[in-house]
Amino acid sequence: MGSVISIVNQKGGVGKTTTAQALAREFAKTNKVLLIDFDGQATLTELMDLSNHFDNEFIKEYMSTESIVKIFERESIEPLDITGILKDENGKSIVAINELHFIPSPGNTIVAAAEGVSGGKDMLLNKYLQKVKDDYDFVIIDALPSVSTLFRNVLLASDALIVAIQTKTNAIAGANGFLQVLNDVLEDYDKTYKHIFILPTMYNKQRRDDKETLAEIMGSYMTSLKTYSSIGKIPTTLLEEIPDRTVFSNAQSVRYFLQDYIEGFDTGKRDILLLLENISKVITNKLEVGSK
Ligand SMILES: Nc1ncnc2c1ncn2[C@@H]1O[C@H](COP(=O)(O)OP(=O)(O)OP(=O)(O)O)[C@@H](O)[C@H]1O
Ligand SMILES: [Mg+2]
Repeated sequence: MGSVISIVNQKGGVGKTTTAQALAREFAKTNKVLLIDFDGQATLTELMDLSNHFDNEFIKEYMSTESIVKIFERESIEPLDITGILKDENGKSIVAINELHFIPSPGNTIVAAAEGVSGGKDMLLNKYLQKVKDDYDFVIIDALPSVSTLFRNVLLASDALIVAIQTKTNAIAGANGFLQVLNDVLEDYDKTYKHIFILPTMYNKQRRDDKETLAEIMGSYMTSLKTYSSIGKIPTTLLEEIPDRTVFSNAQSVRYFLQDYIEGFDTGKRDILLLLENISKVITNKLEVGSK
């Protein structure tokens, strides 16, 4: 059965989308993965550059008939198989790929769709994923940076969370606010997770600010997780920090997945590939242990 992992934090611009994209690509080397853009900003959908990889009419038709909006109309949708966009004309990819499917975001219409629906609306993504998640090893959800119906749908559909925290001053205050929101939702719905991962992002070891924040995450923040009534019962792991490096935005600006960009054009940055491999291994191990 597939594990649904969401990358969350109500703070904007902390690396959620970047992490979701890179981790989905990492898992998809050897697994069947579904990646979902559940953000009305549609950043991830833009990065996928679908209109450049698929026939224009096909994509228009797909976006209208299989829109994620339908989940809020209690209808099923067919994810888009994007495995092929990572292969060249000879069917070869720069980095290994098994299978990667994608559900794009149609933009802000999902916000209206989610708010507009009546009764029992917080569980609709969960209901949809219960039907499709057995087709995948991992479902990765890129969450939106706000507390809303959409956001509660993400929290309630997930088996595990990755909380992305940028190692900057004030990040901890924001991340604590997020824990309170999360704990309330878990209590209201009697919901739990197999695991919660904390992921420090955009870490610059030259900066005092970053070093202090990372130390705080490692120390008081990890300890504080245990003080919440619901979160406190869930196993937690601090993942290795993701460094602040231009290769992340460079890959995105030419619309490549990070791994394919590094292997294809910037092999000097292979340390980042190793880091992603290690992070995905830790997540896989913890989720397997958790399910036994
Ligand atoms: N490790 C990194 N090093 C350098 N730049 C990064 C890194 N991770 C992300 N970025 C850049 O930071 C910006 C914000 O990242 P991203 O879009 O992933 O954040 P987000 O949390 O999804 O934002 P939002 O809350 O708006 O959805 C992007 O321009 C991205 O390229
Ligand atoms: Mg984002």
